Amino acid sequence: MKMTRRAFCAGLASVPLARAVQAQDMPLLTARAATVQLAPDGYPATPVWSYEGTIPGPVIRAAQGSRLQRRLVNTLEVPTSIHWHGIRIDNAMDGVAGLTQNAVPPGESFDYAFDLPDAGTYWYHAHTNSMEQVARGLSGALIIDEATPPDVDRDKVLMIDDWLLDPDTGLFVDDFAAPMTRSHGGQIGNLVGVNGRYDYMLPARQNERLRLRLINSANAQIFGLKLEGLTGWTVALDGMPLDTPEPVTETLVLAPAQRMDLIVDVTAEEGETAGLLFAAADDTWRVLAEVSVEGRAASVPRGAPQPLPRNPRMEVEGVDTAPVLEMQLQGGAMRGLESAAFNGQKLSWQELVQQGQFWALAGQAGLGEAPFATLSRGETARIRMTNDTIFPHAMHLHGMHFRERKADGSLGPLRDTVLVMPNETTEIAFVADNPGKWLLHCHMLGHAASGMTNWIMVA
Ligand code: C2O
Ligand code: CU
Repeated sequence: MKMTRRAFCAGLASVPLARAVQAQDMPLLTARAATVQLAPDGYPATPVWSYEGTIPGPVIRAAQGSRLQRRLVNTLEVPTSIHWHGIRIDNAMDGVAGLTQNAVPPGESFDYAFDLPDAGTYWYHAHTNSMEQVARGLSGALIIDEATPPDVDRDKVLMIDDWLLDPDTGLFVDDFAAPMTRSHGGQIGNLVGVNGRYDYMLPARQNERLRLRLINSANAQIFGLKLEGLTGWTVALDGMPLDTPEPVTETLVLAPAQRMDLIVDVTAEEGETAGLLFAAADDTWRVLAEVSVEGRAASVPRGAPQPLPRNPRMEVEGVDTAPVLEMQLQGGAMRGLESAAFNGQKLSWQELVQQGQFWALAGQAGLGEAPFATLSRGETARIRMTNDTIFPHAMHLHGMHFRERKADGSLGPLRDTVLVMPNETTEIAFVADNPGKWLLHCHMLGHAASGMTNWIMVA
């Protein structure tokens, strides 16, 4: 939609002046086609869909307690929308096409404006046909700064992604909806990288203290990570501070959409290998982000870091007496389903497959008319997710964070995405304090698009 200046001003005539001024000042976030060099030199560049022309999109930083405003300008040839993953947000700004807003047509725009109650590491990504749009590059980091930042020398975002490229053309393998991958583990790339680089390198000094904000923006890949030449502590998960920093001693698991804030000291000597490694498919450890050590920041490393300042509303009270809602994770290759509801009808496995639906949550494939649950505002609820499939699923709740309730009744850290392993039951508990329609879905985006998406109503 093109608007002349006159039509634009005329359209604003009835809007109070304050809002009109604000709207004109709104910073833009433009979804647009671009070409970037994802593959190593010598291979062709890749046409992508981007925010502002880069992969990932620009890092958006704002202060805790402030208000974020961005005008999404859609210059793509497809409709799109933005989800602000992990923000305990006003429902109307959640960006879910078909549930909280209409997708923004090509040539049009949408104004996002919302409060930022929590500090931490979040991210933003397309939430219209996400399976394809996120894979083509529509994601970026969203960092909300504490009023008093922790004592570190530098703060770095490491956005971890994978891309499935045709090495001859540089193009994305154009089969985002391939039934084979959607009914199995999801689309896994043939190139892994950080901040859009397969060879990401971070120069650092010995005994320098870094805050590393890890974000898994891959469509389906679960990353097993370890540190080399770095001594680290996990200080936050999915944006939310841990009560006590946890020393990193073993493999860290980062499922799609999950985040992890580490504070690390560079302990390697100059010239020694240091960095973040990942477990490749062939079970070897490969460098994901290299830290190249040059010079010294201090003569000795520092001690364990202090915890990050807490965010508001981190308690989940009344869990033991809260109602338990059962949600089976069903379907997929090798297991299938007897039947599930889809678009208001009960379909057999064969009919579901014909509709491109391979999965279901509690007998429902895709969004139904009725929510999975209706909760009253302020009530505590438990959802017991039982994984009846042979695949892991990264289950994400919009709008509210939850704690895992362990079998012994203890509660895990506050987070927004949890990995539910095959044949396991994971129970989450949360306070339904944010009114609106909220998705609960698998963040393996091919799964989400083929059945593993449901919703909750908080009234
Ligand atoms: Cu990160 Cu419903 O998404
Ligand atoms: Cu899944």
